[in-house]
Amino acid sequence: MVPRVAYRVKMKLPLFLLVNALSAAAYWQIPLSSESTDSQWAPHRPISRVAVIGAGPAGLQAAAKLVEHNFTVRLFDRAPSPGGNWFYTDETPVREPYPDTPINETAYIPGDLPATHYYKEGEEGISLEDRWKEHWQPRPLWDNLHTNSPAVITELPDVPYTPDTPWVLSNHVIQRHVRAYASFHNLNSNDYPTLSTSPPVTSYSTRVEKLEKIESTHTWRVTVRKLERLPETKEIKAQWWTEEFDGVIIATGPYVSPHVPNIEGIVDWSKVTEAGQYSIYHSQSYRRPERYQNKTILIVGASVSASEIARDIEPYAERIIASVRPHKGGPGGLPLSQLRSFLRFPNGTEFVPEIAHFAPLAENDKGIREGSIHLVNGTVVSGIDEVILATGYIHSNTFLPNFTTDGQPTDLHWTGHWIPDPTLAYTNVRPWTIGRYQSYAFAKVWEGTARLPTQKQMREDYDNGKYHFRGLFGSGPAEALFRQYVAWLNNESLIHGGRFVEPWPLESREVFVYYSDSQWVKGSINLSNFTEFEKLPASAWQSGTAAWDAYVFNDDKW
Ligand SMILES: Cc1cc2nc3c(=O)[nH]c(=O)nc-3n(C[C@H](O)[C@H](O)[C@H](O)COP(=O)(O)OP(=O)(O)OC[C@H]3O[C@@H](n4cnc5c(N)ncnc54)[C@H](O)[C@@H]3O)c2cc1C
Ligand SMILES: NC(=O)c1ccc[n+]([C@@H]2O[C@H](COP(=O)([O-])OP(=O)(O)OC[C@H]3O[C@@H](n4cnc5c(N)ncnc54)[C@H](OP(=O)(O)O)[C@@H]3O)[C@@H](O)[C@H]2O)c1
Ligand SMILES: *[C@@H]1O[C@H](CO)[C@@H](O)[C@H](O)[C@H]1NC(C)=O
Ligand SMILES: *[C@@H]1O[C@H](CO)[C@@H](O)[C@H](O)[C@H]1NC(C)=O
Ligand SMILES: *[C@@H]1O[C@H](CO)[C@@H](O)[C@H](O)[C@H]1NC(C)=O
Ligand SMILES: *[C@@H]1O[C@H](CO)[C@@H](O)[C@H](O)[C@H]1NC(C)=O
Ligand SMILES: *[C@@H]1O[C@H](CO)[C@@H](O)[C@H](O)[C@H]1NC(C)=O
Ligand SMILES: *[C@@H]1O[C@H](CO)[C@@H](O)[C@H](O)[C@H]1NC(C)=O
Ligand SMILES: *[C@@H]1O[C@H](CO)[C@@H](O)[C@H](O)[C@H]1NC(C)=O
Ligand SMILES: *[C@@H]1O[C@H](CO)[C@@H](O)[C@H](O)[C@H]1NC(C)=O
Ligand SMILES: *[C@@H]1O[C@H](CO)[C@@H](O)[C@H](O)[C@H]1NC(C)=O
Repeated sequence: MVPRVAYRVKMKLPLFLLVNALSAAAYWQIPLSSESTDSQWAPHRPISRVAVIGAGPAGLQAAAKLVEHNFTVRLFDRAPSPGGNWFYTDETPVREPYPDTPINETAYIPGDLPATHYYKEGEEGISLEDRWKEHWQPRPLWDNLHTNSPAVITELPDVPYTPDTPWVLSNHVIQRHVRAYASFHNLNSNDYPTLSTSPPVTSYSTRVEKLEKIESTHTWRVTVRKLERLPETKEIKAQWWTEEFDGVIIATGPYVSPHVPNIEGIVDWSKVTEAGQYSIYHSQSYRRPERYQNKTILIVGASVSASEIARDIEPYAERIIASVRPHKGGPGGLPLSQLRSFLRFPNGTEFVPEIAHFAPLAENDKGIREGSIHLVNGTVVSGIDEVILATGYIHSNTFLPNFTTDGQPTDLHWTGHWIPDPTLAYTNVRPWTIGRYQSYAFAKVWEGTARLPTQKQMREDYDNGKYHFRGLFGSGPAEALFRQYVAWLNNESLIHGGRFVEPWPLESREVFVYYSDSQWVKGSINLSNFTEFEKLPASAWQSGTAAWDAYVFNDDKW
């Protein structure tokens, strides 16, 4: 144990001294306790092999940190390259199902593994193009998309943006940034075998189909499918296999499947095309504005995709109509992102109520201009060229149904560890800056230089609403929680060893405050009072008028 006095003294040091104490820890030969006690969780077996599922900003940071901490890491992503949501391509996803597919639908896995299959064009009625796209799912971004978060919170460590980078970033800039981070850590899709002598960490175009706990060995079995396009034979080679791990990190992102609203008549309208192009489609496949010249467009929804697509097409479109329903959040009004979106719709947007039903159409290949769209207030709208469903996403993790409710992670300790089995963890970088600290917690807890309380204690804390994990920011005084997270990590390092981490730089927070003040909260905080978050009464966080992070992180809306 650390001598009590030394411990107390160090905790009272100002931060810069505390950071210096990090190097001093080794010098002082602080004994590291490795035994687990009744008050702490300990894994059944040492954790050395770890799978990270997803190579977006969250998974890349987790994989890089675990590699640095000498774990044997495997990083799987269904996409052919790193970047996650930010791997923009002009390819559009396969058409979304009408109505939504149940999120519990599980993938086909051959009986005997490993297995290989060569898919041919049109096999099972599916084109090779669609099979490829269904596997990796092109991202729901458009060419001209810019961030709704400033660069200081949309940034990965080690590869800083250049000083002249604007606060608001184009998706192309972020894509390069995330790829640079992957390359810096030797995690890019072309880093093996040329640069690496050890077995590959990454496996791209590899989708996790199933995740099971093997109780007898206390390991996780991951079943994956990797697709490869064979240019010579024009076939797609599919390989299924399994690998076993001591720990697993789920970093599959928040926006897995597009959500199609369940509106009467929508399934029939979804079949309608005009000149080979669907007349109704989800915002996930929106890419460029030019072809909207002179068109009348109905956008369903009034959140970020809706307002930003409306702005993008506004210079071209003849008329933009937005169908908006009252926010289901109840009292307290709209979440901030939607308030902001309302302010950002182009002038001239016609707002109409929710759609009640789409009236039947005589033909399926002449577009929807003659069709009638019935609104809930009885008005009928017609003359629409195209309908864009900016109706959001469903969270789904079909490979591990029990981890989630509706695909949303539940039962997470505030570190991101899954309470029923802390050898499983979840990270989702909202905002990006937290991913660094989460990754640190995964590596430290699993190597034993940070300790979790017992599962019973974690469960009690969870049930009491203490530190609910919502990307670390979601409820309560989030700024305070963030600082506690960093303090906890460093406190654990003092006791159990390991490097200290620096908190988020104050100057970044100032930039963030300026940004959120102008973009989100419009005057509800300023530089003289932004450090006062912790002092705000709980009611201020709920009233919808107080500090930035209560708004920003509320409802996972960005
Ligand atoms: C249109 C749009 C705009 C956005 N704009 C912003 C913004 O301006 N600012 C901001 O901060 N955030 C924005 N976001 C949120 C975005 O999700 C985050 O910025 C960030 O990408 C989340 O990182 P992540 O690593 O958690 O998940 P993701 O970036 O989504 O990465 C998850 C990865 O997991 C992989 N994966 C999923 N399932 C499997 C599987 N079964 N097997 C293998 N791999 C799998 C996916 O292929 C993907 O690469 C936006 C999201 C959307 C949809
Ligand atoms: N950087 C950018 O510019 C940018 C651009 C796009 C998206 N994003 C991010 O991507 C994420 C997803 O955003 P999103 O806008 O696609 O999804 P979203 O925020 O989930 O919004 C979907 C909207 O559709 C509404 N809706 C659903 N069914 C409807 C119906 N039948 N009629 C009318 N409205 C309906 C929902 O209303 P309810 O609230 O009532 O359910 C909700 O407002 C967010 O995190 C966002 O910040 C960022
Ligand atoms: C990883 O292993 C190397 C080589 O043994 C060692 O120098 C380094 O300190 C280890 N890193 C951590 C974080 O334990
Ligand atoms: C999925 O859920 C639906 C109900 O929502 C149920 O009818 C169906 O049997 C479930 N399928 C599987 C594979 O569990
Ligand atoms: C759009 O309308 C304008 C004005 O009516 C017309 O000059 C132009 O040719 C139209 N463009 C297209 C692409 O239809
Ligand atoms: C709409 O018009 C007002 C007043 O001219 C202007 O202040 C505002 O910026 C405009 N909004 C957009 C989105 O163009
Ligand atoms: C229904 O909504 C439309 C669009 O906002 C409006 O023009 C119309 O007057 C409304 N009808 C009724 C009966 O309120
Ligand atoms: C999921 O939960 C159900 C009911 O709680 C249980 O029967 C089933 O074995 C669980 N499945 C897995 C994969 O843990
Ligand atoms: C530091 O860790 C010790 C031992 O687990 C604990 O008693 C103390 O409350 C922790 N302090 C902080 C600030 O987390
Ligand atoms: C912070 O200052 C602004 C601007 O003076 C003020 O409107 C706001 O109410 C203050 N916020 C808090 C939480 O005190
Ligand atoms: C910021 O808020 C404080 C407290 O509400 C106020 O006294 C001060 O004038 C504000 N400063 C600016 C620059 O708005």
